[in-house]
Amino acid sequence: MNADGKSRYHEVHARSLADPEGFWAEAAKEIDWIEPPKTIFDPSQGTYGRWYVGGVVNTCHNALDRHVEGGRADQVALIHDSPLAGSVTRLTYAELLHEVQALGAIMQDFGVAKGDRVILYMPMVPEAVVAMLACARVGAVHSVVFGGFAAKELATRIDDAQPKLILSASCGIEPGRIVQYKPLLDEAIRLAGSKPKACIVLQRPQLTCDMTPGRDYDWASLRRKAMNDGKKAACVPVAATDPLYILYTSGTTGIPKGVVRDNGGHLVAVKWSMFNLYGVKPGEVWWCGSDIGWVVGHSYIVYGPLLHGATTIMYEGKPVGTPDAGAFWRVIAEHKAIAFFTAPTAFRAIRKDDPEGKFIRQYDLSKFRTLFLAGERADPPTVEWAEQQLKVPVIDHWWQTETGWCIAGNPVGLGMLPVKHGSPTVPMPGYQVDVVDEAAKPVGPNTMGSIVIKLPMPPGCLPTLWNQDDRFREAYLSEFPGYYKTSDAGYKDEDGYVFVMGRTDDIINVAGHRLSTGGMEEILASHPDVAECAVLGVKDAIKGEVPCGFLVLKTGVKRAPAEIEKEIIALVRDKLGPVAAFKLAITVGRLPKTRSGKILRGTIKKIADGDSWTMPATIEDPKTLDEIGEALKGRV
Ligand code: COA
Ligand code: AMP
Repeated sequence: MNADGKSRYHEVHARSLADPEGFWAEAAKEIDWIEPPKTIFDPSQGTYGRWYVGGVVNTCHNALDRHVEGGRADQVALIHDSPLAGSVTRLTYAELLHEVQALGAIMQDFGVAKGDRVILYMPMVPEAVVAMLACARVGAVHSVVFGGFAAKELATRIDDAQPKLILSASCGIEPGRIVQYKPLLDEAIRLAGSKPKACIVLQRPQLTCDMTPGRDYDWASLRRKAMNDGKKAACVPVAATDPLYILYTSGTTGIPKGVVRDNGGHLVAVKWSMFNLYGVKPGEVWWCGSDIGWVVGHSYIVYGPLLHGATTIMYEGKPVGTPDAGAFWRVIAEHKAIAFFTAPTAFRAIRKDDPEGKFIRQYDLSKFRTLFLAGERADPPTVEWAEQQLKVPVIDHWWQTETGWCIAGNPVGLGMLPVKHGSPTVPMPGYQVDVVDEAAKPVGPNTMGSIVIKLPMPPGCLPTLWNQDDRFREAYLSEFPGYYKTSDAGYKDEDGYVFVMGRTDDIINVAGHRLSTGGMEEILASHPDVAECAVLGVKDAIKGEVPCGFLVLKTGVKRAPAEIEKEIIALVRDKLGPVAAFKLAITVGRLPKTRSGKILRGTIKKIADGDSWTMPATIEDPKTLDEIGEALKGRV
């Protein structure tokens, strides 16, 4: 905020575009470098240039050691709050460092060295944070796989990342059921061509699992021994351009994309965002209610708050049902969180159970200053409800796994701009966001088009896909030369506010989780009775969208369609995982197509959503749309 009470945003954003190197050199001063970068941005390196070339750094040092040395040793770094396990655990910066040093040493004993990959398939337990930081400490590249993915998805990631070690746990806890991780891990390793050298498995009290002799090691025993022996891994210096982690995200096929995050750019960008965007000061308590399996969890449960010297809350629970729709307010009040970040879907779930916000008024939220929403479009009714109930600013912001931090948001630390419902506000420093037509020409205000980011993207954004520079160029850089394609469509208004309206590819957003319908279609098509299929996202009051599969059965199939539909639903859960929330499979006689054979997904979606639609001029047989309407009756 300026002395006149006006936001500093416009001047800061303008400077970041006019002098990117100066801007990001200054931001880099917030980081402890082992060797400062020789070049702030080198356009000749990588696929579109690299940030902080020649810099040497360690991310874990910046997250832990520097705070312990700088007087925060006894400040709580991590609060783990689990209504599902019935526990609250606190670790100070000194305690967290101690845990990370020990696990780092254990990993080194297994031969893990700089550049080696380590997969974490873990529930929301403090050990998962310890593991991520231990990888960063020893220079290993972590790849966290979300616990709601099935064995086959884990296997695909094992084959791509080829980890030396996998860290996992006996179980996760979901409301009403214990999710056994070990059978999924075993099956994934069986399916994968690349086998890890060893697995370190955390036995949780809710369920113990069998260990595979010679491959699996008990986490607690290794920890106890390392602590007794006083083993401590030192920080391994890595290049700023070396990868910190790989995070797989849905692409347009069943093969996920391995988004690479480097050490230097990520450190600078995420640290910069903690105050300037989120308004958090070192020492304050911050809560990001995501899962460590998603990018939001990486940046804002783990790295951002710890790099900033804040206290971070890790929550193993749901917005409703653990035990009620007051769960979020209980956590905010009990731990005195000043800001909270979640997905709009969580608020829709709370509003359904507690429309009048009765639970909210049972808690002391006097310390709470700001709510941040991301992960999917923040629909104005949900934002308005949250504003009325909480009486604090509700800030939508837009980003992607690929960018690692916010593309467009409303910068609280720089001074908030007026909120416009339906817009995540304005581009963050370093991002020149344009809306273009098919010829990559910028369109005027309030005109829909493809949202693109002018190259180079700011620090923190992906430099490439793991071992796939060509796929990266083809998927993101080739369609609109000079730009990164976000695959989101939308517009900017006359004030430069960005409006993100939906994806231009086959990705759908289910309860804030990003899923590929193309990937699901591959699973449906693998069923022996299915001749043809289409999966698309249909409206859902809580989750925003849910997948709906349309099936055409092979000629001669005599079995009851309902039986096959059930098998298809089970198949998606088994191959992709429960997170897909695939519960709708509908058999139809034919799929509506254009004369050139393209499935009319857009029109089918409109019919399923109950929106108005017009008969496409190119349709092969108009009757197929009536048949779809009939099949949908009573199903959505
Ligand atoms: N391990 C195993 N299974 C998991 C899992 C995990 N880590 N996370 C979710 N699942 C399962 C759930 O148990 C559920 O299974 P079910 O079909 O047997 O019920 C399924 O995957 C879908 O889970 P989810 O999307 O969480 O739906 P839900 O119905 O359990 O809860 C919401 C709905 C809206 C409450 C929940 O999605 C939510 O809190 N969303 C917020 C998401 C968020 O914060 N995202 C961060 C992105 S910014
Ligand atoms: P993910 O990579 O899982 O973070 O998903 C990124 C995608 O989620 C984006 O490309 C958007 O389609 C969508 N998304 C995330 N945040 C927002 C938002 N604030 N508004 C609209 N869409 C969003």
